[in-house]
Amino acid sequence: MALLIRDTEIVGLVSIEEAIAAIREGYRDQGEMPAFSAPRLRIQHQDRRLSVHTGGCHGLGVSGAFLHAERFTYLGGAQQYTHIGKRVYVTYNCDTAELLALIVGSPPLFSFETVDEAMGTETPCTSAVGTDLMARKDSRILGLYGTGRQARRHLITMAAIRPDIEEVRLYSRSAENRAAFVERMQPLVKARIKPVDNAEAVARGADIICLATGSNVPVLRGEWLEPGQHVTSIVGSNKAVFQQGLVAKPRREFDDETILRADRIVATLKDQAIQDEQGDLFQPVHRGLTSWDAITDLSQLASGRVKGRENDREITLFKQNSDQGVGYMALALLIARKARAAGIGTEI
Ligand SMILES: NC(=O)c1ccc[n+]([C@@H]2O[C@H](COP(=O)([O-])OP(=O)(O)OC[C@H]3O[C@@H](n4cnc5c(N)ncnc54)[C@H](OP(=O)(O)O)[C@@H]3O)[C@@H](O)[C@H]2O)c1
Repeated sequence: MALLIRDTEIVGLVSIEEAIAAIREGYRDQGEMPAFSAPRLRIQHQDRRLSVHTGGCHGLGVSGAFLHAERFTYLGGAQQYTHIGKRVYVTYNCDTAELLALIVGSPPLFSFETVDEAMGTETPCTSAVGTDLMARKDSRILGLYGTGRQARRHLITMAAIRPDIEEVRLYSRSAENRAAFVERMQPLVKARIKPVDNAEAVARGADIICLATGSNVPVLRGEWLEPGQHVTSIVGSNKAVFQQGLVAKPRREFDDETILRADRIVATLKDQAIQDEQGDLFQPVHRGLTSWDAITDLSQLASGRVKGRENDREITLFKQNSDQGVGYMALALLIARKARAAGIGTEI
């Protein structure tokens, strides 16, 4: 029998640390068996979009798909959603082919959000997996760009992987948004959050630089980078929007110089970046500034095939270009197991 699990039933069921560990296992499995997964498929008509993330983790014994639909706008120069549908996980036991669970809604992982706000909670956990494998262990200063939904969550997941972070420098374009972020988030972390009024001040001297914006234009400049820093960036692709002529350029969150300064570049999945023509990677490759061969998949790090960092002076870059089915399925398996053990969900 499979379980139907609603987001409202699983509030507090999975901790941030457990979610990050589960997603890391999913990418480890992908490194062992890359053919058991595929890049996210997306269809789009004007601002209407549907995405399907398929993935199989043979070691964990799970496969399935994660689906979501939304409408969005580029008003104000940054992507924002106007309509968001409930996310759905369809999870199978890949050994018996039995349906394991249907999970309706993103897992409400963050205590400061309501269930209705919990859309895309997996993303900051995937970012944490790559950041943990690449950033220096002695990181103390986090430079955070963005003050929205993903920035709030990235603050929490970055603090989870590096509990010794003492200071967070925060920038987004609006002083009001920065102040609201500090008021809401400061009680939740021990590091002191310092809002700053210019983008450069975030990067200078930070150990980990985390870009969690909805920006359309580069926010981080490579000329600001210093040896030993790590950069994680989450802005995705707007290929269809660009092709429809609704925006003038592919989305970027960092400039070409960032790519040139990085000693090591990892993508969540480079086949996805190629398929999506994701600007932060696709444009520098096509300008000959780097090559796809020089970019590594997260699964290669998670499975221990490639190191995330060779020494404390390297500048490392993780382009979290899109969550993948393997991460979603590994997390869904954890939720299904914990729900069954706790007597949560409806047998179907
Ligand atoms: N990689 C993945 O798997 C994945 C998954 C989900 C979402 N995402 C990405 O996450 C992005 C953000 O989502 P969200 O839900 O956090 O959006 P959101 O709540 O609307 O927040 C967007 C934030 O970006 C800031 N921002 C926009 N342009 C900026 C600029 N030029 N410089 C500095 N800050 C800027 C905004 O602050 P101000 O207005 O104050 O500047 C705001 O705080 C999405 O656009 C999407 O591409 C990625």
